[in-house]
This record gives sequence, structure tokens and C-alpha cells, in this order.
Amino acid sequence: MRVTMIGSGYVGLVSGACFADFGHEVTCVDTDAGKIAALKRGEIPIFEPGLDDLVSSNVRAGRLSFTTELAGPVAAADAVFIAVGTPSRRGDGHADLSYVHQAARDVVAAIEGFTVVVTKSTVPVGTGDEVERIMREARPDADFAVVSNPEFLREGAAIADFKRPDRIVIGTEDDRARKVMEDIYRPLYLNAAPLLFTARRTSELIKYAGNAFLATKITFINEIADLCERVGANVQEVARGIGLDNRIGGKFLHAGPGYGGSCFPKDTLALIKTAQDMESPLRLVETVVAVNDQRKRAMARKVIAACGGSVRAKRIAILGLAFKPNTDDMREAPSLSIVTALLDAGAEIIAYDPEAMASAKTLMPEITYAPDAYSCLDGADALVIVTEWNAFRALDLDRVKAALRHPVVVDLRNIYRSGEMHERGFTYVNVGNA
Ligand SMILES: NC(=O)c1ccc[n+]([C@@H]2O[C@H](COP(=O)([O-])OP(=O)(O)OC[C@H]3O[C@@H](n4cnc5c(N)ncnc54)[C@H](O)[C@@H]3O)[C@@H](O)[C@H]2O)c1
Repeated sequence: MRVTMIGSGYVGLVSGACFADFGHEVTCVDTDAGKIAALKRGEIPIFEPGLDDLVSSNVRAGRLSFTTELAGPVAAADAVFIAVGTPSRRGDGHADLSYVHQAARDVVAAIEGFTVVVTKSTVPVGTGDEVERIMREARPDADFAVVSNPEFLREGAAIADFKRPDRIVIGTEDDRARKVMEDIYRPLYLNAAPLLFTARRTSELIKYAGNAFLATKITFINEIADLCERVGANVQEVARGIGLDNRIGGKFLHAGPGYGGSCFPKDTLALIKTAQDMESPLRLVETVVAVNDQRKRAMARKVIAACGGSVRAKRIAILGLAFKPNTDDMREAPSLSIVTALLDAGAEIIAYDPEAMASAKTLMPEITYAPDAYSCLDGADALVIVTEWNAFRALDLDRVKAALRHPVVVDLRNIYRSGEMHERGFTYVNVGNA
């Protein structure tokens, strides 16, 4: 099949490379000329484990190419996937659909013959109808079907998630489009990944409902962690104790500094807005968003308390800036709120992250960046672990203690053991007495 990706970011690039790896002929398009030039030189503009090899092998095999020129690849395509960003609209939290609508206008001007236009971007219910309207209005003669196919990959494990998904959701009631989508995903459902066909609006809502549920699960265990601290219980054991119940499941029950990232914050907000507009408010999700927002600054208060009530003129070392390990993505990372709150309280911040420092520097130019984990700790009054990169899980604790001016460790990801840290003479604080 001939597939064209509109948007070559985290989702477009990973999906495009994976489709090419299945044997399809894929062109990834992006309006960002710098990104396309880098990809053509063989440079991957994002950090995603395994993506460089996957891209280079498929480029070499002649199945994957990159361009800023959309018309040719769209005209030749059996399916065009729209994988552009849908950030929060400034001011009201609705999803900003301007990139999706622009892509629809660009695509319809170029299609030839029957073409399936697939929204892979996360879009509110009814966006498929609007995309179809925009396209129909521009070219009443064109032969196309608009399909919803939300993406569920997780950054940091994106290739494995794309190639071995729990399910593939496809929203269409058009038989020709269904056949094209089955052909595109055949390599996956031969591996037993269920293809779930639904109406387009249902498919659009599945993505938001899924993310809102996961955000709720995280927020639930975070509040239980706070309660654990009050009553002397251990949140990791509570999570295990409830997670072993198959009806609950153990995933997304890791207490921490609150969720962030490129999806949960904006998707929960957009879902709330849709629900309010439809006069069917989602009070539970509204509360999740409010609790999570407050939590990030509360983590800064935890650091301040661990430092004896003030961080003024104290040097705080932050390990981990990305919103989670194995990505360089800083979008809505908890580190942003925590660092800002600590700066507000008068702290001096030095930070290290294995992959996210380049983007962090543009967002937080006022802090200092260290070249590695141990030099980050040198002379610091406290260490705060914000992202649980593997490289931080087995630090040489003697070296950590020797480097810090005061042996204070605030572990917001519960990657060390309380007992051992206290035995070694650290003032150790984590989340929920883990
Ligand atoms: N990142 C994730 O983990 C993830 C997971 C599932 C779903 N999603 C959803 O997928 C969508 C894309 O997310 P992302 O993280 O890949 O975003 P991104 O910002 O990394 O990439 C979007 C790309 O689209 C390009 N673009 C914008 N308008 C264009 C146009 N008209 N033509 C061609 N290119 C255009 C941009 O230059 C950018 O490179 C969003 O709706 C997001 O919610 C993201």
C-alpha cells in the first residue's frame, strides 16, 4: 500500500517508519523544512529508542522517504494519515484543530482517485465530520473517505507499542475505507492485535476516554500516597495489593509528582471542554485535572520541607527533566512546575537529564545544566529525583553522599528504598512512604 503521513513528529515518524517496516511504501511530509532536511541527512529529530535504526533500514530499503512537498505523495497515496499536533488552545483548553483543518485543506487539493484520509491525531468527537465537510466543500468531486484511527503509542516505547498494540481502533462505516485499513494493518492483526471497527465518533471518543481513565488512575494513587504519608502506610504495597486484583490491574499505579507529557494534560482538558459544551459534564475528570495541577507545586513544597522549611539561597540538584524516561519530550513535564516553584522560593537550580536538556534549555534558560549526574550533585544542598531514568536507579550512594553538601534526597519516583537510605545517613523523603 502507498501511505502518506502528514506530520513527522513523534506519532507521524514512528507510525510512518513502522508502516514502512511492514512493507508499505511510505512518505512522511512535514511543513518544518529543518526537520525534513535533518531526516534526509539521516538525523532523527527526536529521541525515541530504536527509531534511528528503524528509519535508516527502511530508507535504505527504499520504502521510506521524507519531503516538504505534499502534493505528489498525496496524489499517489491509498491512504493519507493526518498526524499533526492538536495542542491546547490558549485560553480555553479546547483542542486547537487549526493544524488538522489546514492539513485537510492541503490534502484535498492534491488527492487523485479514491483516497482514505485518516485522522491519527487525537481529535475531539465530531472532528472527522468537520474534516469531511472542509474537504467536500473544497472539492465536491473528490473521491475520499475520512476515517478515525487514534494512536495509543507511548513515547519511550513507541515502536514496540505500534508493532504490538493491545488493539487498533478504526472508526469508519465506509466499506471501501475499511478494506484499505484492513490491508494497511494486516501485518498486525495476523499477529493477533484486535482490529476494533466502530463508528467514527465512537473511535474519536475511545482515545479521550482511554487517556482520561489512565490520568484518573494515576491521580487516584497519588492521592492515596498522600494519605499513606498521613497514616503511616506504604503506597507501593497498597498499589501492589490492589493491582493484583485483575479488575483493577497493576499498571498506572505508580505514585509520583503528577502526570505530564504531550497527551494527558491536553487531552483531559479537551475532553472536559467537549463534555461541558455537550451539557454532559465529566465532574470526575475535572477533579482529576485540578488535583494533578495542584500536585506539581505541592512537590516543590515537599522539597522545601525536606530542606528544613526554606530553600532560599540553597542549591538544589534536579535529576531528570523529561516528563518520563526514554524520551526527550518536555511538554507539560512536572519538572517545569517544580523548578519554577523552587526558583520562586529562592533556590538555585542545577539539573541534569540524559536526553531532554536541549529542549529544557529553551524552556528554562535561567537554571544551570550539568554534564552528568554526579557533577550535578556537587555541593548541592539537596538532590531531587524527578524522572526515573534507569541511569538514576543505581547511583553510587557513597559518591552521592560525598558530592552533596547536605545528604538530603527527595525521591519523587520512589526508586530508592527508605530503609537503606536512612541507614546510609541520608535524609530521605519519597512519595507515600514507599
Ligand atoms: N506524542 C505521543 O505520545 C502521542 C501519542 C498518541 C497520540 N498523539 C497525538 O498525535 C498527534 C501528533 O502528536 P505528536 O506528539 O507527534 O506531535 P508533534 O508536535 O511531535 O508533531 C507534529 C508535526 O506535524 C507537523 N505539521 C503541522 N502542521 C502540518 C501540516 N499542515 N502539514 C505537514 N506537517 C505539519 C509539525 O511541523 C510537527 O512536526 C497529536 O494529536 C497527539 O495528541 C501523540
